[in-house]
Amino acid sequence: MAEMEGLEFGKSDFVLLDEVTMDQFMENLKLRFEKGRIYTYIGDVVVSVNPYKQMDIYGKDTIDAYRGRELYENPPHLYAVSDAAYKAMKRRAKDTCIVISGESGAGKTEASKYIMQYIAAITNPSQRADVESVKNMLLKSNCVLEAFGNAKTNRNDNSSRFGKYMDINFNFNGDPMGGHINNYLLEKSRVVQQQQGERNFHSFYQFLRGGSAEAIASYHLQNDPSVYVYTKEGAAATTWNNDHSSHKAVVHALEVIGFSKEEIQSIYQILASILHLGNVRFASDAENVEILDLDTVNHISELTGTGADNVVKSLLYRTVAIGGGEVIEKGHTHEEACFGRDAFAKALYERLFGWIVGRINGIIEVKNYNPMFHGKNTVIGVLDIYGFEIFDNNSFEQFCINYCNEKLQQLFIELILQQEQSEYNREGIQWQHIDYFNNQIIVDLVEQQHKGIISILDEACLSVGKVTDTLCLDSMDIKLAQHPHYTSRKLTPTDKTMDFQKHFRIRHYAGDVTYSIEGFLDKNRDLLFQDFKRLMYHSSNPVMKEMWPDGQLSITEVTKRPLTAGTLFKNSIIALVDKLACKEPYYVRCIKPNELKSPVLFDDARCQHQVAYLGLLENVMVRRAGFAYRQPYARFLQRYKMTCEYTWPNHLMESDRDAVEAIVRQHGFQDDVAYGHTKLFVRTPRSLFTLEQERAALIPILVLFLQKVWRGALARMKCRRMKAIYAIMGCFKRFKVKAHFWEVEQRFANVRNMADYGKSVAWPTPPAALNQFHAITVMLHRRWWARQMVKKIPPSDMLEIRAKVAALTALGGERKDWGCTRAWERDYLASVRDCPQSSSAFARFSRELRNKDQYSQVLFSGFCRKINRFNKSSDRGILVTDKCFYKLEPKKQYKVLKRIPLDTLTGLSVTSQVDQMVALHISLQDDILLCLQCGELCPKQDRVGELVGTLADHFARVRRTPLTVKVCPSAVRLHMRGKPKTVTVETKEGQANADFKKSKDGFVLLVPAN
Ligand SMILES: Nc1ncnc2c1ncn2[C@@H]1O[C@H](COP(=O)(O)OP(=O)(O)OP(=O)(O)O)[C@@H](O)[C@H]1O
Ligand SMILES: [Mg+2]
Repeated sequence: MAEMEGLEFGKSDFVLLDEVTMDQFMENLKLRFEKGRIYTYIGDVVVSVNPYKQMDIYGKDTIDAYRGRELYENPPHLYAVSDAAYKAMKRRAKDTCIVISGESGAGKTEASKYIMQYIAAITNPSQRADVESVKNMLLKSNCVLEAFGNAKTNRNDNSSRFGKYMDINFNFNGDPMGGHINNYLLEKSRVVQQQQGERNFHSFYQFLRGGSAEAIASYHLQNDPSVYVYTKEGAAATTWNNDHSSHKAVVHALEVIGFSKEEIQSIYQILASILHLGNVRFASDAENVEILDLDTVNHISELTGTGADNVVKSLLYRTVAIGGGEVIEKGHTHEEACFGRDAFAKALYERLFGWIVGRINGIIEVKNYNPMFHGKNTVIGVLDIYGFEIFDNNSFEQFCINYCNEKLQQLFIELILQQEQSEYNREGIQWQHIDYFNNQIIVDLVEQQHKGIISILDEACLSVGKVTDTLCLDSMDIKLAQHPHYTSRKLTPTDKTMDFQKHFRIRHYAGDVTYSIEGFLDKNRDLLFQDFKRLMYHSSNPVMKEMWPDGQLSITEVTKRPLTAGTLFKNSIIALVDKLACKEPYYVRCIKPNELKSPVLFDDARCQHQVAYLGLLENVMVRRAGFAYRQPYARFLQRYKMTCEYTWPNHLMESDRDAVEAIVRQHGFQDDVAYGHTKLFVRTPRSLFTLEQERAALIPILVLFLQKVWRGALARMKCRRMKAIYAIMGCFKRFKVKAHFWEVEQRFANVRNMADYGKSVAWPTPPAALNQFHAITVMLHRRWWARQMVKKIPPSDMLEIRAKVAALTALGGERKDWGCTRAWERDYLASVRDCPQSSSAFARFSRELRNKDQYSQVLFSGFCRKINRFNKSSDRGILVTDKCFYKLEPKKQYKVLKRIPLDTLTGLSVTSQVDQMVALHISLQDDILLCLQCGELCPKQDRVGELVGTLADHFARVRRTPLTVKVCPSAVRLHMRGKPKTVTVETKEGQANADFKKSKDGFVLLVPAN
């Protein structure tokens, strides 16, 4: 039910007629034709009326408008059915076929071309080169097949003289992968004879008129078809097409498809040979027959790659086996020679045509297709087969063609009418039976075993002895006398439209056709003398040799009698019908509006006749009473369950039928459906379309939903995995920690009893998590170890130990030697060993001083060399007590030269070397610079560390103020009475004792070289 077309154009679907009568049907058809609307639907069947003029309805815009749309969304069009067939194929992976029927000139071939053009246009959106090439070949094959298989007849300037069924194979993506062409019964008699006003096949005229002068001359031909017997009849006839340009197009198409240069040349050599053959004349006297045109024979021999003698022999004689392996050559009569020549010409053309189709098939067939990898390979078949024909003189070809149309009508009836009605019965749907004419009876009349016309013809052909066409007619008259669709003059003597012994009539579904029996047997036998087959098999041209494989057989070989033309045709049509029956069919029913090829004339009687025999009215009735769509409940539910809350995701109802009912009710089209036993029937496509639309809108949401659920599931899976990983990692870490503890415990279990308290025990490497813990434990152990060490030290040594620890800390490892390994005696001036001469005097002095200054402890005493701010250096004694720092004059009984309270000491500076220089930093920037000297104890003793350690320990523990100790790598800086001085240390050869000297910016301590 197409929209977008106003009612002024009539009803776009005959189903919408107010009353289904022939009058209304014809009125609508005529109105639409006159308004330029050549297509009308009956449901999804397209009725097409030949417009006989170019219509602007096949362009890119139209293709875009129909692409992917539903049938009733646009005005009726071939493109809509093509799209429906394509969609069914793609969506449901169904093989489909489009059957185009109608009488000669009704527009079937044109329709098939538009259908192919549409399919080519809507596929391969990604423009893949291989697919484009397949499409191109499929389209180009039309041009070639039309040139060789079509001819001008009195009914159609471009009449298909063969039947064509083309399968287009699609891959999983819906792109064409290849195809296959089946051809049916080429009307080869046309090669040698045409009815008045008709032409031979286009190829001859195109070749003669379109070939270049040189090319034509090289084939020993002239550019004029009237010169050749076989093309003379049609030479004057004009066609819609220009033979000259068509020839170029055909050669180009052959090249595009992939025919080689040699193959193309061979094709035209065969055409030329046929034309020459037609001009071969025979002369005969009483005994012999001879060829008049030996030049022509030479041309044939040259063009066919055979010996001229052999050609002559084949034309004049036939080899006959006489038994016992012997053969004789039997000369032809004049009549036989003509018959043989024509049969040879026909056979040459027929085999050429068959070879071209086979060659195209070889090229376009799907190669290397593996459904495992490429998905299901689906097919759309397009059938363009000759239409029903009634000529003035109807012969064997018309008989075959009309039989074929009976078969197709039968298929149509089967699929559209019969199956439909029987399905309603089966499903228990209320249904008023519609009568239609079932043409099975006519099909049987032709094809029934033993009783049918084909069987009778075969029987006659097989009989020994001379059976003539008239004898065969007699036999038919006897056997078929009672058949309601068969008659002849003998059976109805009063009917003067038929001749005795010549005509018989079949009442076809499309009308009565009177056939002339003349030539039936010959055509059915399809006799060709073996000699021609052998002649061609031995051709030096490999292409021609390939066309005649049966010429290989020797004449004495007994072969099975070949099947007759009628039986071959019958078998091929039965196979075709079987092929179509297993596909989902789409129909285009073509109607020819007039006999004059006029774009304005609508011949009511002619059209009504076609409407009647095509059974269109019955089609409308069945359609109107019927349902456009049906689907088993489960399938329907599966497809549309998401459109209803009660059925998504799964229904809880008793049966699928109830669930389907819920969907139907929710969408409010309960009046548009019927419930069968197993299927739901939907009357109008609109309801289905609504569902489809809703489904299409929901699919993205469902996809999102499924994606969401699946992503959630994935995330949860991942999360669980991560948790497991962490659990395992946790366990492992705990294990590592425990293992570390166990190891430490084991290694250190016995340290109390070890001599070194475990100092030599190596610590195991801790796991990363225990780094801090490890550092702390190591520290703890060290402390404990130190405690064990310290515990052993007698209290008398403690002071020294503390001082050493303080020195270690204060010097920070920066001083090379600090006397750590020796015993620190502190009060060296009082030491008898160090100062044997003066120690007693110093002891006296210090006793008095202690009394006087009330100090409780001597921190350090010793000799030193010191320098003052006047650059005067002198030997002095120093005494450091817990109260003061004393500068003493050793030469005057240690007279106190200077007393500096210890709390004015702010820090010390020493060098990082082994010299004994110390700068005592006193507050108010009046520092003291001295170099400690050793006594007798050991001349090379370091006492700087001892002085630093003792003072640092005293300040830290007793005074509780830190003492800044600076270890200077190069120069020591100090102030004397506020003035900055820099002191460096230099080694000097020959220097006996360390001594200061003035320098530019302060002092330099010169030390002995060793
Ligand atoms: N849709 C169309 N638009 C324009 N012209 C058309 C259309 N259909 C058919 N014709 C015209 O009608 C002529 C006959 O059509 P076509 O050859 O398709 O008939 P046919 O049914 O194949 O006949 P046959 O059975 O003899 O092969 C075409 O050559 C063309 O001139
Ligand atoms: Mg045709």
